[in-house]
Amino acid sequence: MIFGRVKPLDAILATAEKKSLTRTLGALQLTMLGIGAIIGTGIFVLTAEAANKAGPAMMISFVIAAVVCALAALCYSELASMVPVSGSAYTYSYATFGEIIAWIVGWALVLEYAIAAAAVSVGWSGYMVGLGKELFGIVVPNAFVAGPFDANPGIINVPALLIALVCMALLIIGTKESARFNAVLVAIKVSALLLFIALAIPAINSANFEPFSPNGFFAREIVNPMSNEMMTVGVSAAAASIFFAYVGFDAVSTAAEETINPQRNIPIGLIGSLAVCTIIYLLVAAGAIGAVGAQPFGELSQSKEALAFVLREIGHGWAGDLVAVAAAVALPSVILMMMFGQTRIFFVMARDGLLPEVFSKLHPKYGTPHVVTMCTGVFVALFAALFPVGKLADISNSGTLFAFFTVAVGVMILRRTDPDRHRPFRTPLFWLVCPLAAAGCVFLFFQLSGYTELMFLGWTLIGLVVYFLYSRSRSHLGRGSVEVHELDSDVPPTSVPPIN
Ligand code: ALA
Repeated sequence: MIFGRVKPLDAILATAEKKSLTRTLGALQLTMLGIGAIIGTGIFVLTAEAANKAGPAMMISFVIAAVVCALAALCYSELASMVPVSGSAYTYSYATFGEIIAWIVGWALVLEYAIAAAAVSVGWSGYMVGLGKELFGIVVPNAFVAGPFDANPGIINVPALLIALVCMALLIIGTKESARFNAVLVAIKVSALLLFIALAIPAINSANFEPFSPNGFFAREIVNPMSNEMMTVGVSAAAASIFFAYVGFDAVSTAAEETINPQRNIPIGLIGSLAVCTIIYLLVAAGAIGAVGAQPFGELSQSKEALAFVLREIGHGWAGDLVAVAAAVALPSVILMMMFGQTRIFFVMARDGLLPEVFSKLHPKYGTPHVVTMCTGVFVALFAALFPVGKLADISNSGTLFAFFTVAVGVMILRRTDPDRHRPFRTPLFWLVCPLAAAGCVFLFFQLSGYTELMFLGWTLIGLVVYFLYSRSRSHLGRGSVEVHELDSDVPPTSVPPIN
């Protein structure tokens, strides 16, 4: 295989087969699971970021991001159903490309999950600060609600830091979302967005859609007149950022082995949840643009609680507060899911010998991987405390796009090298969908800012140094032992909440 050490797929599958979870999920539950994981900071907060980059044409950005996600999602599902074990893209890569690519993917997933958790924490902070001011008249000085890299620099984002640490503590004591709780949160998020749509759409003034695309289509760098920093603008740059609003659908792919008739239900769940979110997002975007205008550097584009801001501007302060409360209640569950995903990847990597063994240690009382959870929590909290939400979301996207790209290519390779293997879900028209997904990921990656691409490169280089100095010589596979830990009795629960 391409880079030496490849984990035999048969060993992974033999273990997975023994696990045989009962198939209980139907199309509707999958769609709910997807919507629960998808809606978060992206729409509640990054709508402002998208307006700043694309103006009213951000509606096109939402569509582009949705299409790339849908294509990637179809590829993801083939591997997820074929190799239904934990570790997602990291594990698929170990069996497809070999250890070094698996390592790079696992390392990139840190960006996807941990940095996304930080981004959502900062988004939550924006809404909490707004609520504190509106409801209780509490005005916290900017120094304590913005990091030093914010457009309006502060010192430390205290609420974001705190929520990240609270989520870490919850994960250590083993908090798991139940299906019912997930359903309640989905209802809260969707109701808040529908309330927004119902109030903002009637307030649309068509003049606010002009000029429609002030920054053109392709990404280009300009100097931000407000902060004097370079920034990337354009419809496709906004698409690369707003891609964040759709991330999370992998929860559906990874539930493949618990799904009844996966060939039918997985695509319905994936495309269904993406379609529902896309329609809601487009209506929200249209409402926000039409009601208050969405020109770059306008008021909406600078708000840290975009949706609440719009409602307050059009005279529905009470509804603005309600939407802010919904965001404050619902966003922490997205932080939990993302952090959980992160600990799970590190846990699997540690069990493969690529990270220190202590990362796979379980807490004697709670049975959770507390060491890795603590490291993740502190990492997330630090990034949340220092960086603004837009930069974090972009960095997270760079990792996600890389992982999705690897998955799309992996599907194509496995169709050639292992054509007869049972695939509970097959990507439809894979010869078209996989290359388009891979191309879409590459395209969006290069529409991210130069700064983000550099961060990604730096992170990958650090990862390679760690690999060659530490992991390579300690890899269990490298030492000749093929282990699949899926069935170990002490494995902590998976990130997908059980749905009954
Ligand atoms: N899609 C998730 C969000 O927007 C990550 O918060």
